[in-house]
Amino acid sequence: MKNYFSIQDIDSLPNWVDEAIKMKKNPLSHKTLGVDKTIGLLFFNPSLRTRLSTQKAALNLGMNVIVMNFTGEGWSLEYGDGTVMDQGNSEHVREAAQVVSQYCDVLAIRAFAKLENKEDDYSEKVLQSFMKYATIPVINMESATGHPLQALTDAITITEHKKNKKPKVVLSWAPHPKALPQAVANSFVEMMQHTDADFVITHPVGFELASQITKEVPIDYNQENAFKDADFIYVKNWSAYQDYGKTKSDGASWRITKDKMKLTNNAKFMHCLPVRRNVVVDDAVIDSKNSIVIEQANNRTFAAQLVLKKILENN
Ligand code: CP
Repeated sequence: MKNYFSIQDIDSLPNWVDEAIKMKKNPLSHKTLGVDKTIGLLFFNPSLRTRLSTQKAALNLGMNVIVMNFTGEGWSLEYGDGTVMDQGNSEHVREAAQVVSQYCDVLAIRAFAKLENKEDDYSEKVLQSFMKYATIPVINMESATGHPLQALTDAITITEHKKNKKPKVVLSWAPHPKALPQAVANSFVEMMQHTDADFVITHPVGFELASQITKEVPIDYNQENAFKDADFIYVKNWSAYQDYGKTKSDGASWRITKDKMKLTNNAKFMHCLPVRRNVVVDDAVIDSKNSIVIEQANNRTFAAQLVLKKILENN
């Protein structure tokens, strides 16, 4: 594995999850693996968990860490081939990626969907350009269409908490005042397709994820029906894929409540965070003993650490 761009870069999800759980028990077990190596973290969007957990993971492996917030601090980048750069963009990604490759041994990038143009977002312009021109491995810290570090985290968390071999896992859409990308949901779906589970997606009509990602995963448009007997409720908002980037102003009935959780098999509540309380989920649910969101966030470190370990060992 050179790059960690998507869930498809994982050769065996069960093996990776087992290894991450072992690493969690002894986080400093490979504390010299990354000595004298530097990771550069480039952020085109805000972050709390991804930024700090990836730094922590790198430090646990003995790496040096450089962080740059590109928006507002870096030169605005041009991605087009053959562009006459007489407009706003000051630097081409060709030079930027090659230059950064001289300062670092591993590069990690966060660049969200802009939700203006489906083709632009789903071509993964930023990540694909960096992977094309960088001469070092590139890690996806949430791109336009995927968040594979989060999904690996979610696989670890589900494995730790599942009580039966094949749990029922529900990915539920929930309301949000802003239009959000599909990245977290996409990677969660891809991850669940490599997991032994009874998996169902529930969302309002019109909020179908890309069919090339969901493939044969069942969709239940009735949220309460989907929740019945579930062992895990994984909640996320996403904007529409078909009517690209559109959100739903009348989606309040999809909020996660205590009554809906009562329909489940005493399900664990999961969310990648950040979450808007009492919009996405009621306090009574996120503060309940069944909420595992804080532990889920803790597992971000061990997902990132495992990915870094594999990259350091293979490059
Ligand atoms: N879940 C997640 O990626 O959190 P941040 O946006 O805070 O990094």
